[in-house]
Amino acid sequence: MDKYLPRKTCAIISDTNVAPLFANRIEESLASAGFQPLLITIPAGEKSKTLEQVGAVCDRMIAAGLDRQSFVVGLGGGVIGDISGFVAAIYHRGIPHVQIPTTLLAIADSSIGGKTGVNTCDGKNLLGAVHHPSLVIDDLDVLKTLPRREFNQGFAEIIKHAVIADAKMFRTLQGWEAGEAPALQRLIRRNIEIKAKIVAKDERDQTGDRAVLNFGHTVGHAIERAGNYRKFLHGEALSLGIIAACAISSKRAGLPSEQRNAIVSLLQRFELPTRLPPTFPREKIFDALKFDKKFEDGKIRFVVTPRIGTAYLTNDVTLKDIREAVDQL
Ligand SMILES: NC(=O)c1ccc[n+]([C@@H]2O[C@H](COP(=O)([O-])OP(=O)(O)OC[C@H]3O[C@@H](n4cnc5c(N)ncnc54)[C@H](O)[C@@H]3O)[C@@H](O)[C@H]2O)c1
Ligand SMILES: [Zn+2]
Repeated sequence: MDKYLPRKTCAIISDTNVAPLFANRIEESLASAGFQPLLITIPAGEKSKTLEQVGAVCDRMIAAGLDRQSFVVGLGGGVIGDISGFVAAIYHRGIPHVQIPTTLLAIADSSIGGKTGVNTCDGKNLLGAVHHPSLVIDDLDVLKTLPRREFNQGFAEIIKHAVIADAKMFRTLQGWEAGEAPALQRLIRRNIEIKAKIVAKDERDQTGDRAVLNFGHTVGHAIERAGNYRKFLHGEALSLGIIAACAISSKRAGLPSEQRNAIVSLLQRFELPTRLPPTFPREKIFDALKFDKKFEDGKIRFVVTPRIGTAYLTNDVTLKDIREAVDQL
């Protein structure tokens, strides 16, 4: 670790589920390597991804005397990765960030690419910074304690990567058998490669290349918010968003219906939702859409897939298309 971090004091930011499982071990190994760690634990869950929580964490770090020579370790899932990364991005105008992702979603997706941030009451990830981690430590053993529902939601991002970039990986997933550790390792490695390659082309999300990673997220984020961040996990809302994006892709990009059906079946295979509950407040989804960052100048930037393994950004999609797709969910 010395090679990456020639510093001594650090904050370990974790949540109330993860800290009791792993924080001791991390604190001890950091201390034995000569670092002085300060553990900061925040309530688990998406509801913690707020500016207030970031402020509270920074206040604790200031009170403990951490300075610009310090660094931040994020120990947890995507929520902790996004918050701890944002803290690292703004603390003394930026200090190094180490990620130790502990969910499948965080290992295969959110720990790569440097996007950090928090939600506001108006929408997901509206405040943030691009701040790449100096180091990401992946240990798949941590997944053993992850609840099944949390494990499965990670597959929503993995299926998304397959749909936008890798038809072969899509077929691998169609034959997926749970419990094969080397296969999981290969799968994760491939996901990291896909995401890193896309991010490298368009780090700051300006040319449209990186935008393909948002496949399924326009509607997914709106569903997440409409459910008050409680009803669906991120990957579950994404699964529904992918279904909507497939319907729109069939209409606007010629996605064949058998490929759409294959995507739906694959999401179901990982126990991900593919229909909204009948009582879900659909109108709230449209309210939430208005705040999506992808609605620049009133134009809708929407990612479609013409066939499994490729995706592109288009301005051809209308709000009516989105409404129809959500109505079908
Ligand atoms: N920055 C990015 O590029 C990016 C990409 C995708 C998603 N995200 C963000 O990631 C977040 C979702 O991430 P997530 O699904 O990892 O959520 P999360 O961080 O809330 O973790 C899910 C749950 O699992 C618990 N947990 C974590 N690791 C565990 C373990 N090993 N054993 C037992 N319990 C464990 C957590 O306490 C939490 O309750 C969303 O906020 C989303 O916006 C960010
Ligand atoms: Zn996502």
